[in-house]
Amino acid sequence: MDEIEIDDELPQHSRRAARAHDPHHRQKSKRASAHVIAELLEHDDKTGAVAMGAGSGFNPSFGASRHERRWIIDALGGFHETNQIVDVVAQVKGGKEATVYCCSAHPSTSVEYLAAKVYRPRMFRNLKNDAAYREGSGPVDEQGKQLLRMRPLRAVAKKTNFGQAVLHGSWLFNEYRTMTALYEAGALVPKPYAFAENAILMEYMGEPFAPAPTLDQVSLPEAEAQPIFDALIESVRIMLANNRVHGDLSAYNVLYWEGQVRIIDFPQAVDPLYNPSAYQFFMRDIKRLCQYFARYGIRPQAAELADQLWATCMPGDANDIQRELLARANLNR
Ligand SMILES: Nc1ncnc2c1ncn2[C@@H]1O[C@H](COP(=O)(O)OP(=O)(O)O)[C@@H](O)[C@H]1O
Ligand SMILES: [Mg+2]
Repeated sequence: MDEIEIDDELPQHSRRAARAHDPHHRQKSKRASAHVIAELLEHDDKTGAVAMGAGSGFNPSFGASRHERRWIIDALGGFHETNQIVDVVAQVKGGKEATVYCCSAHPSTSVEYLAAKVYRPRMFRNLKNDAAYREGSGPVDEQGKQLLRMRPLRAVAKKTNFGQAVLHGSWLFNEYRTMTALYEAGALVPKPYAFAENAILMEYMGEPFAPAPTLDQVSLPEAEAQPIFDALIESVRIMLANNRVHGDLSAYNVLYWEGQVRIIDFPQAVDPLYNPSAYQFFMRDIKRLCQYFARYGIRPQAAELADQLWATCMPGDANDIQRELLARANLNR
């Protein structure tokens, strides 16, 4: 099997920015956090936002602990109130940053089940806690310092409670907004239905007590490997053409169900026209996909494939884009 080298290193300026992020300033602020969604919606008129609900009349049958049950009711009560889900039937997976539940869907949705991804409370999270991803939110100067334009992002820079809450809220919002754009563009992602303060509701892959495995957990039938690889690369191309780079793509973030695949887990997705590390993230995404498919004898030159895709979708090569970002940053001074 070909060894594929994966460069997990981040550029110098990103590491500098990561160090600058001071965890001591992280504080709980639920009220401010509710504010976040309102603020973010001001900048993006995507509908689908569901207000925090007290969850009245919501009595999920999933036998969680008392603590988890409270958490489920708080996070998903709004989806119940707005007639999107009727019940929570099982936990699919409890991850580091989020827990995914299988919910039975309200008849108005015309599907049987929906997946609810509930983000952990912020103090328990370390969500791809890397300033390199954050840089996608706006232009940067020569030192890689972000030039912040939106009020919420300026608040982040000032490390106010409100700013920290924006950071919290925007991972989720970034995931929902990215999924919506990519689904509409025809990429293989679960259909997003709605989001709330701490949760995203989306198409469920699998059956209630048999959720779809991730690619790393399956051995693909020989005849399926090449078509699935091609379909994933086409989805990655669609993403790039829509100015999105996944940033954490690998066999662990692709669901496989009955010959179909769906790419998941987008909170860290970045815009290549704003994020100076996007090309490196993109290259790493392609290399990791290729690394997985090598076991089926599919061995394209990963770096060349990434370059080709980049050249097809981006207005210039990675260096040109970097220059463009710096030029814009100067204009914004
Ligand atoms: N739409 C979905 N349908 C079925 N299972 C899902 C769905 N989305 C996520 N999962 C399951 O939940 C797990 C965690 O979701 P993911 O979005 O990758 O979050 P994270 O890895 O950050 O915890 C996935 O590996 C998968 O097993
Ligand atoms: Mg994941």
